[in-house]
Amino acid sequence: MGWQANKELVETLSSKQPGVNYREERVPNYVLPDILSCADGRAVHSAADWPARRQEILELFREHVYGRSPAAPAGMRFETVEIDPKAMNGAATLKRINIHFSEQADAPVLRLVMFVPNQRTAPAPAFLLICNRGVENIDYTRKIKSDFWPAERIVERGYVAAAFFNGDIDPDKHDGFVNGIHGLLERPEARTPSSWGTLAAWAWGAARVMDYWVTDPDVDDTRCVVTGHSRGGKTALWAGAEDTRFAMAVSNESGCGGAALSRRCYGETLSIINKAMPHWFCSRFHDYNGREEALPLDQHLLVALMAPRAVYISSADQDLWADPRGEFLAAQAATPAYALFARKGLGNDGAMPDLNTPLLGDGVAYHVREGSHTYSLYDWDCHMDMADRELKLKPS
Ligand code: GCU
Repeated sequence: MGWQANKELVETLSSKQPGVNYREERVPNYVLPDILSCADGRAVHSAADWPARRQEILELFREHVYGRSPAAPAGMRFETVEIDPKAMNGAATLKRINIHFSEQADAPVLRLVMFVPNQRTAPAPAFLLICNRGVENIDYTRKIKSDFWPAERIVERGYVAAAFFNGDIDPDKHDGFVNGIHGLLERPEARTPSSWGTLAAWAWGAARVMDYWVTDPDVDDTRCVVTGHSRGGKTALWAGAEDTRFAMAVSNESGCGGAALSRRCYGETLSIINKAMPHWFCSRFHDYNGREEALPLDQHLLVALMAPRAVYISSADQDLWADPRGEFLAAQAATPAYALFARKGLGNDGAMPDLNTPLLGDGVAYHVREGSHTYSLYDWDCHMDMADRELKLKPS
């Protein structure tokens, strides 16, 4: 039968937050937009038809959800700040790279931290964490260690452990888009309802890391994974959608505006998120508050934008705010896009997997683990198991 929300937890949350729906039986009936039907009614039959449909879907997300992002600025430059070949007791080479977007003194600078495994015979595949928690979680001195970014473990498993702090690109507050990268690259008065929000800005930062990686001989730029937790997970999915150089995207408990289907209105909804975080999405997204059925898309299409590349969606059983079932259903509903490439996607029988039972499918993976809202070592290990399979580190 698979995972089901704990009944007591549903009762507790429902009484604490009476305005929020945690009851499966109160999920409205809905119809998801068809992945394989183009706006003009034409049907998508083959992989050859996919690029046009994919572009259409991408434009819908730019127009209605995350907003349109600019290209990299012409003056972008990479500065090597530090290289320490004896980091992590000799297991890794620490590289600190600053990505500059302008020569203006107060312009944002993306401070990329990388630990490259020393034990390797070829360029290494990489995991990039978009860090939405305090910078101490990505401490390059390794005095502070956190499961949120288990860099030693990532290196041990043969991946470059890379991370940047989201606030380097754009502060996580509603400032009218005058600060951060928005302030540098556009005039606030030129903004439109589909100008990029803060999540899109962070995703744009991840793409700039890819710009750097294609120049770095230590990194195998065909095997790079972008990952994030919660708001960072929403961002990782959008980064993977916008930049197809990422071979895999991982969403850990991203919920509303990430992997969860908006039409389910379970846990956090559009009205809630757009009120609490008015800067995250483009302003047009706010038009759908309480009108989810009017959206020309839903989040399964975001997952589908990864096809035929790999994607991992993970949930936690206590994190009903992020709607684990809605996240699973989006992952599953992306299957038709994978089928175009003769891939099975999640490839299950339709039921959710049991607790702590990762479903590593063909291109698409999902798990719901026990515990609360965080990025845990368990999550990381599962994500790397999928990357091992998908990025062909090990024979499957
Ligand atoms: C809030 C927000 C979520 C978000 C989370 C996080 O709970 O409502 O949408 O995912 O913060 O980023 O931790």
